[in-house]
Amino acid sequence: MSETGALTDSGSEPEERVLEAALRPKNLDDFVGQARVRQQLSLVLEASKIRERTADHVLLSGPPGLGKTTLSMIIAAEMNAPLRISSGPAIQHAGDLAAILSSLSEGEVLFLDEIHRMSRPAEEMLYMAMEDFRVDIIVGKGAGATAIPLEIPPFTLVGATTRAGLLPGPLRDRFGFTGHLEFYSVAELELVLRRSAMMLSLSVNSAAFSQIASRSRGTPRIANRLLRRVRDWALVNRQETIDERAACAALDMYEVDERGLDRLDRAVLFALCSKFGGGPVGLSTLAIAVGEETETVETVAEPFLVREGLLGRTPRGRIATAAAWAHLGLSMPADAIFAGQGGIELDSESDD
Ligand SMILES: Nc1ncnc2c1ncn2[C@@H]1O[C@H](COP(=O)(O)OP(=O)(O)O)[C@@H](O)[C@H]1O
Ligand SMILES: [Mg+2]
Repeated sequence: MSETGALTDSGSEPEERVLEAALRPKNLDDFVGQARVRQQLSLVLEASKIRERTADHVLLSGPPGLGKTTLSMIIAAEMNAPLRISSGPAIQHAGDLAAILSSLSEGEVLFLDEIHRMSRPAEEMLYMAMEDFRVDIIVGKGAGATAIPLEIPPFTLVGATTRAGLLPGPLRDRFGFTGHLEFYSVAELELVLRRSAMMLSLSVNSAAFSQIASRSRGTPRIANRLLRRVRDWALVNRQETIDERAACAALDMYEVDERGLDRLDRAVLFALCSKFGGGPVGLSTLAIAVGEETETVETVAEPFLVREGLLGRTPRGRIATAAAWAHLGLSMPADAIFAGQGGIELDSESDD
């Protein structure tokens, strides 16, 4: 990963996962926000408890860092069931999946992260397992191949995906419940941060919480990460209580601005405005101007800039919005083409 994206990138690295695990809410009541998904999920789980049946299969979709893995653990905990964790990329052959499925115990929750990245043959085996709790193990090759049916105990599949649109229909249809996670409000992120600060025994005042929350891009993972960086800063600078000044000083030092943009995000906007008059300019030209890979600009910086209404995608290239000029403190030239008033149509193609 590029050094620029590390602090505000919403994906997690192995080392971070250890710290994340400690901050994960353990039950639905402690899970902040996502009121609708929480309510619906709690109903699904309650009902299955009353019926003394394994819960329906659950699909969780949404961008990284919003709580999919956390929810899968909560589901297992609420059902009092053991949890098995694997992921799409880890299941390359149908045999890999058969091995997992055949070793499940009754009622176990199987969490498959990045389920959209599973191989085709494994996917087809999963259909049958989800529906009939049975798989066919193919033994031998060619004309001599035979299918040996194998019963598997009832289990609950929890699938997670950042790209629900990439899941084939037949797979999506086999989930009894689909929960789509949304970005969190600043108020919700403040609650996440309060909880984390308590668990880390940190003293943080309200103004500092709201500073950190508003720079966290609607994402609990980023909020927790920024909190740890602020904690480091306070430790080194011997601040017992983290106040707004400390939070701002720390986050400014890490180049995360008041809207959550990092160095790369600002570099992209700045190049777009100062070198290309606000666009339209092609993505690869823009990437060269900031000295980054096209893919990095497209996947790391752009989605957030578009979501914030700072950058627009048009059929002719990327353009800066009026908000972008304002955010950089630049005055927009009269002839700049920008979304909203210039009559330019934004590409409606979304990420998902
Ligand atoms: N609703 C929430 N309330 C409190 N903390 C949360 C919530 N959602 C996510 N987190 C925290 O954010 C981090 C990332 O969550 P995770 O479940 O790993 O996200 P995902 O699997 O969607 O990428 C975890 O440390 C978790 O504690
Ligand atoms: Mg996850």
